[in-house]
Amino acid sequence: MDKLIIQGGVSLNGEVKISGFKNAALPMIPATILAGAKYRIENLPLINDVHCLISIMEQLGSNIDIEEDGVVNIDTTDIDECKALYENAGDLRASYYLLGAGLGRFKEVEIAYPGGCDIGSRPIDQHIKGFEALGATVEQDETKIRCSADRLIGTTIYLDVVSVGATINIMLAATLAEGTTVIENAAKEPHIVDMTNLLNKMGADIKGAGTDVIKINGVEELHGCTHSVIPDQIEAGTYMIMAAATNGNVLVKDVIPKHMEALTAKLREMGVEVIEKGDAIRIKGGNELKAVNITTLPYPGFPTDLQQPMIALLSVADGISIINEDIFEGRFKFTKELVKMGANIKVDQTTAVVEGVEKLKGTTVIGTDLRAGAALIVAGLMAEGQTEIKDAYHIYRGYEKIEEKLKKLGAKIQKVES
Ligand code: UD1
Repeated sequence: MDKLIIQGGVSLNGEVKISGFKNAALPMIPATILAGAKYRIENLPLINDVHCLISIMEQLGSNIDIEEDGVVNIDTTDIDECKALYENAGDLRASYYLLGAGLGRFKEVEIAYPGGCDIGSRPIDQHIKGFEALGATVEQDETKIRCSADRLIGTTIYLDVVSVGATINIMLAATLAEGTTVIENAAKEPHIVDMTNLLNKMGADIKGAGTDVIKINGVEELHGCTHSVIPDQIEAGTYMIMAAATNGNVLVKDVIPKHMEALTAKLREMGVEVIEKGDAIRIKGGNELKAVNITTLPYPGFPTDLQQPMIALLSVADGISIINEDIFEGRFKFTKELVKMGANIKVDQTTAVVEGVEKLKGTTVIGTDLRAGAALIVAGLMAEGQTEIKDAYHIYRGYEKIEEKLKKLGAKIQKVES
């Protein structure tokens, strides 16, 4: 397994350009199944999860051509069914978007059970509730899921939990349904809006994205289009935290500062200087870091995906920070790796209490999931001595060229392939 080796204690300085948003890009790739047509998706992050989905789409019969700088041309004209029982369909979470897209287009879809990060139980009952409400029959076992319908008919669906995945999946299935579908208690994340923009460019009729009520008027057919993916707020947030962690001075470029508000507020509360300038944010460290409390929430609350990198930063802040994580119960598992580095963190179910220590010390740690891996990079960058992060492959699932970007900022980081 690949590992990352970091020599800590170096301040990050310079500029970093943010890639397209992983969590927006991932549903867009299966969405192209909805119309057998040609698409040009720009600013697609060429991360491992994207390559994995591209390979599934190729196995399904699409022609995909990757140009430079994240431009990907997808031709789905030759896809005539959506049966993805390949081994790699179970490698990532986002393969579940094939369900909504395949059901919408062919009224029949079968996929290997989705995988993804081990951060909790991750049920998909709300996706299934939505498909069934539209008229589909859903059959599943531990290895696969099959959805089929004679007709899909619009209806009102209230989500019992705010779910990004269920909101997008129901939107995908409902675009070609008969009549109007209303999703109540819908997720409001920026990538829901970006997905809606893509679907509307394809000819869909969707209103209300970005609010908690989304209305989808079914249309008879869709067509190809060109779309550019919004910047990755989680990647941007990770670099903002890394800059703060190393007392650096970093300009994080190509971001939408509005999407970063929850993190910006918390960093300022900690004493970090955050300066917004158009589509860039400058982070200046140097002040003493103060402890803060955080509760993860759906957008516009503090994102669960930044909780882990933030805990790494708080492990050296002055005072006691209390972190509540109600979205994914397994997201504190990685804190035992920070404790190996000298952090003082106590976890009780959905609460972590972090008492700041003066310094972390480099050692060998394991990146148990994607954002845990990012958190350990934050820790390694500020620790004394050398940190070795095992299972680094998780990190490459979601961060484009992370080692290259960090080296440009002055970090001493090296990937060792095995
Ligand atoms: C997506 C993101 C992930 C992010 C999360 C929350 C992708 C590929 N992943 O995951 O990075 O951390 O949003 O912003 O985009 N839930 C149910 N039943 C369901 C669906 C969800 O109970 O049918 C629960 C989940 O267990 C969780 C909460 O709802 O507690 C939110 O999950 P959801 O928004 O669906 O997360 P994902 O789409 O899996």
